[in-house]
Amino acid sequence: MKVEFYGHVRQYHNIKAEIDKNIHTVLESGQYVMGPMLKNFETELAAYLGTKHAVGLGNGTDAIWLALMTLGVGTGDEVITHANTFFATAEAIWIAGATAVFVDCDPKTKCIDPAKIEAAITPKTKAIIPVHLYGQCADMKAIRKIADKHKLYVIEDNAQAIGARGDGFKISELSDAATTSFIIQKNLGTFGDSGALVTNNEKIDTTVRKLRNHGSNARNVHSYGFNSRLDDIHAGILSAKLKHIDEYNDLRRKWAARYTAGLKAAKNFTLPFEQPGYRHVFHLYVIETKNPAQRDPFLKFLNDNGVDAKTHYSIAIHQQAGYPWGKGARIAGSVANAEQNAATCISLPMFPELTEQEVDYVIDRVMEWDKAQK
Ligand SMILES: Cc1ncc(COP(=O)(O)O)c(C=O)c1O
Repeated sequence: MKVEFYGHVRQYHNIKAEIDKNIHTVLESGQYVMGPMLKNFETELAAYLGTKHAVGLGNGTDAIWLALMTLGVGTGDEVITHANTFFATAEAIWIAGATAVFVDCDPKTKCIDPAKIEAAITPKTKAIIPVHLYGQCADMKAIRKIADKHKLYVIEDNAQAIGARGDGFKISELSDAATTSFIIQKNLGTFGDSGALVTNNEKIDTTVRKLRNHGSNARNVHSYGFNSRLDDIHAGILSAKLKHIDEYNDLRRKWAARYTAGLKAAKNFTLPFEQPGYRHVFHLYVIETKNPAQRDPFLKFLNDNGVDAKTHYSIAIHQQAGYPWGKGARIAGSVANAEQNAATCISLPMFPELTEQEVDYVIDRVMEWDKAQK
């Protein structure tokens, strides 16, 4: 049996009529950039996330640095994030011209450890970027308290957790803005690239809208800006998929629960931790080998046996060759948990359209390997 890591084509086939209809509507409209389908999707996204504004952008990385730029965060400023996020979080800080400050993650959730943030703050610190890693919200209540105390901006990198919730808070409620990515593999993904920023702050909304469109919100009138727009065809695809996002996330949760039940007896792995009271939407189902030396042979075993497992992310940002490429960067304190995560992580196939047979096949292979260890 072969179990793929992604189910993009299955998802397309399941809602083909809805997606094709929206693409057709855009094609026949004659408006492909900043047209009515984008406007419609922005309204739907804001309604879904419960924010006043949603701005469609070219990708999730742009969404982060445009947020920083809009808040005036750039050269000479420091922005705190955690070392085991996807590379783009740090990249966006560098594109904005700021210094990336890396703190450790919580050993259980793998999200930023709020207890490590305060020690990393200096007079230059302007913002914190928590990442809702793997589909679970960071501890936004604790982060908000620190941000209030030190008067810092908070931008949530929500590329991986659309539809997730915290215990008593929702995404974008306790921050200045939340950003997301709609690259195909995300829980809400289009057939290509795009992203968005959501906010309750009118000034951020207006400024990002201008910046994404060559500094223009009226024909022929420009100020300094960029081109980072979400095309209407992608907006149409996303609009069709947004109607299914809760159902998709429920399925991810169902497969995660099945993995957890099937793997709980394994001796060689740590399974994902779901924070009580939170809704984890399992963008990824990441297990860790207790022994780092076992990770690569275990990954090879799975791949050799038809299971397309991957790693997220096996080289932490500060461990990448050439780091920090002449950019401002600082590691604040020990990042031992992030490094442990990089050395031991394995992501099992996770997408809504998996079947019971596929999930059980993966469980059986993992348990087979587990039993063969001493
Ligand atoms: C945590 C995180 N931040 C930022 C991004 C960047 O998004 P994009 O690839 O759309 O630029 C991604 C995904 O790619 C991500 O996973």
